[in-house]
Amino acid sequence: MPDQKTNAGNEGDVMKHPTLQKVTDHLSDSKSEFWYVETHAAYPYYFLPLKGAWTGGIGHLASTLKDDQAIPRPLRDYVAIAYHDKLGVTEGFPDKRTYLGSAPQVFHILKDKKKRIRMTLFEMAAEPTDQLLDYFEAQGAQTVLVRTGNDAGHVATFLRKWWDAAVEKAHDDDDLVMVVQGDSWQLAPCLWEKSGENRNPDLVFVDPFKLNDPYGQPQQLLCSLGQSNIPFICWTPLFCVPASNGSKWPAAKWSFESEQGRTGDQGAQAFANECKAKGYQITSCCWDGSAGARQKMYGCQLALGNVFSDGFTANDIWELNCQEEDQGKPGFRWWDKYYVQVQR
Ligand SMILES: C[S@@+](CC[C@H](N)C(=O)[O-])C[C@H]1O[C@@H](n2cnc3c(N)ncnc32)[C@H](O)[C@@H]1O
Repeated sequence: MPDQKTNAGNEGDVMKHPTLQKVTDHLSDSKSEFWYVETHAAYPYYFLPLKGAWTGGIGHLASTLKDDQAIPRPLRDYVAIAYHDKLGVTEGFPDKRTYLGSAPQVFHILKDKKKRIRMTLFEMAAEPTDQLLDYFEAQGAQTVLVRTGNDAGHVATFLRKWWDAAVEKAHDDDDLVMVVQGDSWQLAPCLWEKSGENRNPDLVFVDPFKLNDPYGQPQQLLCSLGQSNIPFICWTPLFCVPASNGSKWPAAKWSFESEQGRTGDQGAQAFANECKAKGYQITSCCWDGSAGARQKMYGCQLALGNVFSDGFTANDIWELNCQEEDQGKPGFRWWDKYYVQVQR
């Protein structure tokens, strides 16, 4: 499993978190209370090491901001929330440079908008679970911890009841954060599949580190969300494919899609096609060439379901009209090295 501590703030986050922020902001506009669910929450924040993946991601972006270059609005807004670089800190004290995880980013957007916050955060590992709990307690939220051990399937049978009870107990003015340590693939769907007449989440963020996790995930979870009409964002990485992949590989192309659909990352292509068939919107983002060593991430995909309406389109997130299309490369050069392609 990739280490989120060393990857925090990388290019994948630069494509993922502005989208999350923008969608949260839009969906919460009309609500006084907002219920956010995240399936892979990880740590609340990260101390960024001197050299790390963040230097090519948020670090690169933040230094460009200082140069006052023209960059799209969503990226500007995102830096202010996610990245904290204490003034006057020298290179010798890099641990003062921090990057917020996804759930705290959402929390702060909602807090600024004076919304009543409801969050259910799933995380498999003990250490980030504890840190999430400490973090949100320190932010003044009421917190509830659920550890499922090896009993995720059993806990799923009553987790929704526990959630409803926690909401009932919370005062109107309190923010409530429940952190569930356990396997979200098994646990999260019970929140909406067992909701009865009660209310469903306002946004579910699905953030696995790869496609084809056990039990056909994340596809199954997205299917369940689609059936319940729940807004969701799902981020998945795109990994390079070796140039000698059997078929002739168009190494110069940046997208995972080959013309015939027979070369490149066929798993990612199948996922994108499945999403399109279900009516979800899928956006591919690339910042590097797609041919190379398999463990190298060159881009990511964002699948969005039940998010858009006549008054809110992909263009509102990406502001796609701001840059021209580059010759020979798929999608728009959105900003600097980042290309995005909204797949139709
Ligand atoms: C890429 S990180 C998530 C980053 C975070 N969403 C963000 O954007 O700041 C993935 C996290 O998911 C956790 N994880 C992996 N499989 C999981 C599962 N089945 N259920 C819950 N958490 C899981 C890992 O322990 C890791 O902390």
